[in-house]
Parts: sequence; C-alpha cells; structure tokens
Amino acid sequence: MADNKGNIEDPDVSRRRFFTLMGLGVGWGSIVTALGGAGLGAARYMIPSVLYEPPTVFKIGKPENYGIGVDTKLKKERQIWVVRNERGIYVMVAICRHLGCTPNFFQDQSLFRCPCHGSIYDTHGNVVGGPAPRTLWRAAISLDPVDGEIVVSFNTRQDPDPVGTPEGLMVEEAGREVEPYFLKV
Ligand code: FES
Repeated sequence: MADNKGNIEDPDVSRRRFFTLMGLGVGWGSIVTALGGAGLGAARYMIPSVLYEPPTVFKIGKPENYGIGVDTKLKKERQIWVVRNERGIYVMVAICRHLGCTPNFFQDQSLFRCPCHGSIYDTHGNVVGGPAPRTLWRAAISLDPVDGEIVVSFNTRQDPDPVGTPEGLMVEEAGREVEPYFLKV
C-alpha cells in the first residue's frame, strides 16, 4: 500500500507494527491499573473503615441527679428523656413512633409534641393526638453496682400494645413500671 509520499508499505509489516503498539499499550495499561489498585488497597489499609456510632449502653449519672418530672437535658446527646415520678425513674426514647422525628417537651402542657406531623404524647408516652400508631418506647435501665449510676440500654425497649380509648392510645402504667424499664429509686 502507498502512503501520500508514494512510498509503498508492506501490509504485513504495518499490521505487525499495529499489533506491537497495541500490545505495548495494553501492557502499560495493565501495569498502571495494577499499581493504582495496589495503591488504593494500601491507602484503605492505612485508614481503617471504622463507623463512629454512639454507644447504645451508657451511664447517665446517679438517680439523685433527677428530680420529679421530665428531664430533657440528654435529649440531644443521647436521644432520651429521664422521667421521675413518686415511685421511681424511667427513661423514654426521644423518637416519634410515627416516622421517627424528635418530639419536643412542653413543660407548661406536660406534653411531648412532634413537629413533623403533630403527634402528641403525655409524660407516660401515651399517644393523645396525631398519627403516631404506638406509645413512646422506654429503654431498659439498671444501677451500676460499683458506682451507683443509672445505666441505659438504649436498644432494649419496652413496647407494649396500646389500647384505643377516647383519650388516645393508652397503656396501663402499672404494667410498665417493671424491671428492667423502671427503677424504684
Ligand atoms: S414523625 Fe412525629 S408525627 Fe410524624
């Protein structure tokens, strides 16, 4: 075959050159890919893939730190409310049972109100308004035998079936004030 200067090139020679160049390209490509992969692997090894999630079992101080009523100071940090009544202490999980938003506590009304779709809970966690289908969870609690602090097991939760009443979805309180969801302290 003649090129534009009139030189004649053997088609076998140009085919061989083509395949040689192709081979070189593929070879270098593979080396670069392999080195890149090894580099990524090394980087992944140096940076461990750790997920930093908050602990699900934690201490919240001694019972005497909590007075009668709803204590909201751990809502942001731990997603809980600590409630003391005349008989003892329980811990409610600050997650709305409708779609998981965080309700706010209104001291003047003694109610939790969810800002998302309007669910309303009383201080026992009963649903007194809005679309929530179940009462607020209560988390398991115990006393540390060494330092006397309250230990919360956030993922161990009391979730009794509520009864529909004219006032809302209710659960009898006596059935809830049982271990490990209630501390008589
Ligand atoms: S998430 Fe609370 S009312 Fe919908």
